[in-house]
Amino acid sequence: MKTMMKMILCVGFTLTAGVSQAACNFDVEVGDYLKFSAADMTVEKSCESITVNLTHSGSLPANVMGHNWVLSATADLDAVAVAGMQAGLDAKYVQPGDSRVLAVSAVVGGGETTSVNFSIDDLTVGGDYMFFCSVPGHSYSMRGVFVVQQ
Ligand code: CO
Repeated sequence: MKTMMKMILCVGFTLTAGVSQAACNFDVEVGDYLKFSAADMTVEKSCESITVNLTHSGSLPANVMGHNWVLSATADLDAVAVAGMQAGLDAKYVQPGDSRVLAVSAVVGGGETTSVNFSIDDLTVGGDYMFFCSVPGHSYSMRGVFVVQQ
């Protein structure tokens, strides 16, 4: 019942708002499944920095069902994810020094929380960006549009 209410509220919000409200700080939840709680994220160019707090509310450890939060240009997403697979868990599933990675959090497992803080000075208003999870096999379902608005 609670889930149903949540779904109804979400649908209602999506219909009226279209795109989620802009913010500089975000709380994103993940679990023992391949989904972010946020379908999309909108920031304002005026944000001094962006903070994403990532909480894994599941119980599976990071090496089984870990998740991270990575930001890249949409055009780079697939290549960044492939490179990240090779890099492994210790490298947060991103290739060290990969300049296509605009932000990356630690990989969290069940019960863990992490935060990533980054500047969007180099990002363009209206640019084509996406956030995703670079844990192998996750990026196809764990991704969403990252909007930079004026
Ligand atoms: Co994931």
